[in-house]
Amino acid sequence: MVILGIETSCDETAVAVIEMSPLKRSVQAADIKILSNVVLSQVPIHRKFGGVVPNLAKREHQKNLVPVLKSALKEAKLFHAKKQKTEQKFSSLQIRILHEIFEREAELIKRFLKEIPKIVPPQIDALAVTVGPGLEPALWAGVNFARALSYIWNKPVTPVNHLEGHVYTVMLGETQIQKHGFHLRTMKLPTLALIVSGGHTELVLMKKFGNYKIIGETRDDAAGEAFDKVAKMMKLGYPGGPIVSRLAENVKQNKKIKIKLPRPMINSGDFDFSFSGLKTATLYLLRDLEKKYSLAELRPLIAKEFQDAVVEVLVVKTIRAAKKYRVKSVILGGGVAANTKLRETLVAAVKNNIPNLELYLPSRHLTGDNALMIALAGYFSGDKTPWKKVRAEANLRLSWQ
Ligand code: KG4
Ligand code: ZN
Repeated sequence: MVILGIETSCDETAVAVIEMSPLKRSVQAADIKILSNVVLSQVPIHRKFGGVVPNLAKREHQKNLVPVLKSALKEAKLFHAKKQKTEQKFSSLQIRILHEIFEREAELIKRFLKEIPKIVPPQIDALAVTVGPGLEPALWAGVNFARALSYIWNKPVTPVNHLEGHVYTVMLGETQIQKHGFHLRTMKLPTLALIVSGGHTELVLMKKFGNYKIIGETRDDAAGEAFDKVAKMMKLGYPGGPIVSRLAENVKQNKKIKIKLPRPMINSGDFDFSFSGLKTATLYLLRDLEKKYSLAELRPLIAKEFQDAVVEVLVVKTIRAAKKYRVKSVILGGGVAANTKLRETLVAAVKNNIPNLELYLPSRHLTGDNALMIALAGYFSGDKTPWKKVRAEANLRLSWQ
C-alpha cells in the first residue's frame, strides 16, 4: 500500500511517500519503506516577523506545493511525464471543478493547471492530508491540493489530525530514518503521549490504537510558543526553541546573579499546564536584572532557568499521569521533543520512578513538522473520505472514535 502524505498546517510545506506492508493480523505491526520525505521550511520568510504569519504561510504553500509534490514523486521514483502533448489537458468539466475547489487559492490553481496535466497519475493507493489543528489559511492550501489531486487522479483521501502524526512518529524509531524497509516499532498499550509543539501542549491517553483522551493540556501558551516568546524578549530570533536550548547548554550556576523562575501548576492536582505566567515572570526578571547586568551575560542564565522550569513541569506531570493511569508506555512528540534537556530528564525520570515503563522518543530528524508522519497516521486511520467531504478544521481535537 503506497500512501502520499501532504502537510501544510503551519510553516512547512511537506510531501512524503511511504510504502506499507502489513505483518500478521495485528494492525500495528507493519513494515515501512520511506520512498520520499520532502520538507520545505518557510522559516527564513517568517523570521523577520518573529513568528508565523498565517496569510504569508498560505501564499508560500501555494507557491511550493506543486514543486514539493514533484520532488517527492521523483525521489520516490513515481514521477513520469506524459509523452503525448494531446494528453496534457484537463477537460472543461475538470477545469470548472478545479476552479470550485481552489476558489480561494488563485496562485495554487495556476500552478496546478500548468503542471499536473503533464504528470502520469502515480501508482499510489491513497492520499493523506493534515486537516487540523493548525492555521486555517495554511491548512486549506494543503487540503484543497489533496482534494484536487484526489479528483484528478481518482484516489481516496484520508483526513489526518496533525497531532496524531506527531504521536505516530515514535513508531519510526529513534535513529536517522532509513531508506530501505524496516519494521515499525510497536507501541505497548495503554500509552500516554506528551505532545509538545508550537501550538499544543497535551497529555493524551491512548488505551486502544487510535482512541485518544486528552487528560491535560495548556490553559494558555504552548510550551514551544513560550520558548519562542522568551527568545524574542532576549532578542534571539525565531524559532526560539532551538536557540534557547543551545544557549542553555553547559551553563554553570552564577553565584553572583540570582535567577529563579516559578514551576507553574506543578502541584495543581490535575494534568493541565500554563506557561503564560512563566513567560511574564521571565520578562520581569529580565527587566530587573538588566539594570545591573548586560543582556549578553544574562541570556544563558535565563535560558537555562527557563528551560529547567518548562522541562520540570512537563516531566513531573507526565510521570504522575503515567502512574495514575497505569500505562505501559510513554510517547514524546512534537517540535519541542527535539529538546535535549527534555529528552534526558524524561529518560531519567522514567528510570527512577517507573523502571518497567517503556519510553518512546522520536527521531530528532522527525520532531518538526513533516508529511511522513501524516502518511503514517493516514495508513493507520485508513479512513477513506470522498474528496468533497474533506475540510480543514483549525481547532480539530484528538478524541475517542
Ligand atoms: O511541531 P512543530 O514543528 O510545529 C507545530 O506543530 O507547532 O513545533 C515547533 C515548535 C516551535 O515553537 C519551536 O521553537 C519548538 O517547537 N522547538 C523547540 C526545540 N526545537 C523546536 N523547543 C525547545 N527546544 C528545542 N530544541
Ligand atoms: Zn507540529
